[in-house]
Amino acid sequence: MSTNKWNADNYNKHADFVSNLAFPVVDLLNPKENEKILDLGCGDGTLALEIKKFNTKVIAVDLSENMVEKTKKKGIEAYVMSATELSYKNEFDAVFSNAVLHWVKEPETAITKIFNALKANGRFIAEFGGYGNIKYLTDAMQEVFDKSKEYGEFNNPWYFPKDTDYKEMLEANGFKVEYIELIPRPTKIDDISNWLDIFANGIVSHLTKEQQSSFKQEVRAILNPKIYSEENGWVADYVRLRLKAVKVL
Ligand code: BEZ
Repeated sequence: MSTNKWNADNYNKHADFVSNLAFPVVDLLNPKENEKILDLGCGDGTLALEIKKFNTKVIAVDLSENMVEKTKKKGIEAYVMSATELSYKNEFDAVFSNAVLHWVKEPETAITKIFNALKANGRFIAEFGGYGNIKYLTDAMQEVFDKSKEYGEFNNPWYFPKDTDYKEMLEANGFKVEYIELIPRPTKIDDISNWLDIFANGIVSHLTKEQQSSFKQEVRAILNPKIYSEENGWVADYVRLRLKAVKVL
C-alpha cells in the first residue's frame, strides 16, 4: 500500500482551499455551546479552531504527526490517531470530518469506530471525495502507469463511494442517515504540479526521483488540455460526498 507523506508547509501554501471551501460542512455540523466534538482528520487544525469558536470542546485527531503539531499550536487538544483505530466510546456529541474519508480504504471499520465514539443521538457530519471525484486526474495517472511498465501497477489510494452505497453502509452499522448528497464542486488549484506534490507523493514513492519527476510532468501534460484554461487556470474535477447521520439506539 502506498502512504502519503504530508509536508505541512507545502499544504499551507498550496492546499488552503481544503479548509477554505469547507464552511458548508461546518454549517451542517451546526456546533452548539458546550458540545464535545471530535474532528477526525484535522489537518492543520483550521476547522477545529473554527468549531472551537462556538464554545465547544474540540478534540482533534490526524494520522500525520506534522499536522497534529500544527493543530496543537492553535491551542487544540490533538492526537495522532487513524480513523480505523479510534479508541473513543460514547464520548462525543458529534464527529466531524472534512476531506479525509476518501483516504480510508476500510470504510466499514471507520464507520463502526465513529459510531462507537458517539453518544446516543450523536451526529456524524462529513464531507469527502465521492463517486467520480478527480476522474480526470486518476485517469491521467492510470494512463502514465499503463504506458510506463517499469513504474509497476497504479495503486490508487482513494475510495470515492456512491451516495447510495455509503448510505447503505451507514445504515447497516446503526446510523440513521438524515442527509447524503453527491455534489460536483470544480475546484481551482494553483498548479497541478503542486497538487501532485502534496497529494500524490505516496503513489510514486517507490520510484526514483527522476521517475517521479517525469511521472508528474507527463500527468501534467495529459491534463493540460483537459483541466487548464487561460481564463480559469487549473480546475480539478472535485465531487463532494456530504452527509449527516445520527446514532440512534
Ligand atoms: C479530495 O479532497 O477530493 C482529494 C484530495 C486529495 C487527494 C484526493 C482527493
